[in-house]
Amino acid sequence: MVSQTPAAPLSFRLDGKTALVTGAGRGIGAAIASAFAAAGALVGVNDLDGASAAASADAIVAAGGRALALPGDVGTPDAVARIFDALAAQGGIDILVNNAGTTRDETIFDITLESWNELMRINLTSAFLCSKRAMTMMRDQGRGGRIIVMGSVTGHQGALYGHLHYATTKAGLHGFAKTLARTGAPLGITVNAIAPGIVVTDLLRRTHGDEGIAVLEKLVPAGLGAPADIGAAALYLASEAGRQVTGAVLDVNGGMLMR
Ligand SMILES: NC(=O)c1ccc[n+]([C@@H]2O[C@H](COP(=O)([O-])OP(=O)(O)OC[C@H]3O[C@@H](n4cnc5c(N)ncnc54)[C@H](O)[C@@H]3O)[C@@H](O)[C@H]2O)c1
Repeated sequence: MVSQTPAAPLSFRLDGKTALVTGAGRGIGAAIASAFAAAGALVGVNDLDGASAAASADAIVAAGGRALALPGDVGTPDAVARIFDALAAQGGIDILVNNAGTTRDETIFDITLESWNELMRINLTSAFLCSKRAMTMMRDQGRGGRIIVMGSVTGHQGALYGHLHYATTKAGLHGFAKTLARTGAPLGITVNAIAPGIVVTDLLRRTHGDEGIAVLEKLVPAGLGAPADIGAAALYLASEAGRQVTGAVLDVNGGMLMR
């Protein structure tokens, strides 16, 4: 007879885990880092801007969490090597969030080869470099792991106004996560993408301004998102609770796109 007693619920805690969140000096990355720290993880807080990385790590510690500032440009192999060497010295890595990313308000008529290559480097190559190190360490550690990439609604439906290079990288990250998920599965490593819709951050303010944001707001039935919404989704995927989810692109978009 099948038991009617429910099993203990799976945990959303991250006690004993070490995470790296790239681009965590502000915005979505900072919210993910603080969600992980509040759940008990030691969080490596990366950002290109060293002062932001330090401030974000300090805020976590001030709130009673554990964090380590790991500044550097994750689109460059030297910085990635330095960051992962520091994590190895702390006992390894269990969770990687490839969040660092940017965009430029350009259409195909303005995008130079330099700009195209720079967006590929920052948004895509960074995920490759960090995931390669993380997956190798996770395999050798033999305790599974979690890798998350930051996709976007633009990876599904294209960007609304220009941003060709950006949308291309986000669609690329969705395919990256699905393919890496197949390699990770036998090793107990899940790999997923999160596809936010429109989240109010510096990136959005810089590229769209207040007027543009008001226009975008009309496209989102449930209203614009906050960085904490993405932090909560990342915590789900990073924890035991998300252990059966791999190769997914998790939409967190307030109903902007229903697939
Ligand atoms: N805000 C949105 O509406 C939205 C929607 C979909 C996806 N996203 C994605 O979420 C991620 C975070 O976006 P955000 O809105 O918080 O942006 P943001 O610009 O507010 O923050 C991004 C952070 O990443 C850092 N960064 C940039 N390049 C880096 C590099 N090479 N190495 C290390 N750090 C780097 C920046 O210094 C910054 O602190 C990005 O990948 C973005 O594409 C954002």
